[in-house]
Amino acid sequence: MGGTNPYIQAVDAKLPTKPYTITFLPGDVKVEVDPSKLPYSREGQKGSILEIALGHGVEIDHACGGVCACSTCHVVVRQGLESIPEATDDENDQLDNAPGLTPQSRLSCQSVPDGSKDLVVEIPSWNRNLVKEDH
Ligand code: FES
Repeated sequence: MGGTNPYIQAVDAKLPTKPYTITFLPGDVKVEVDPSKLPYSREGQKGSILEIALGHGVEIDHACGGVCACSTCHVVVRQGLESIPEATDDENDQLDNAPGLTPQSRLSCQSVPDGSKDLVVEIPSWNRNLVKEDH
């Protein structure tokens, strides 16, 4: 499906003004985020971890299309969490349904880093649709 999703509501986020990097785990995929190129894709909030990941071929499940109506885009922000505004009540409500919740858990479609820190983001195994685990 193409086009802009009309159900995406803006979150209170400050877009980055300078380049920063997001390293996605596992796989150690390093993405350079250039603020002038946002958005990289159309799913989730502009500048969100989800839209940046998808725009760089890093697959994160996103069943609701990035409108804060599921918990499948759950990621764990291992470093740089302080550069992302606090989760809204809506995000926290959805996160409550996410398996393997941690204090650093966020919905990647709603999390917009301000670029003041480099990030390390772990994609939980149940969200890696395209990666087959060996077990
Ligand atoms: S994709 Fe559904 S909440 Fe993020």
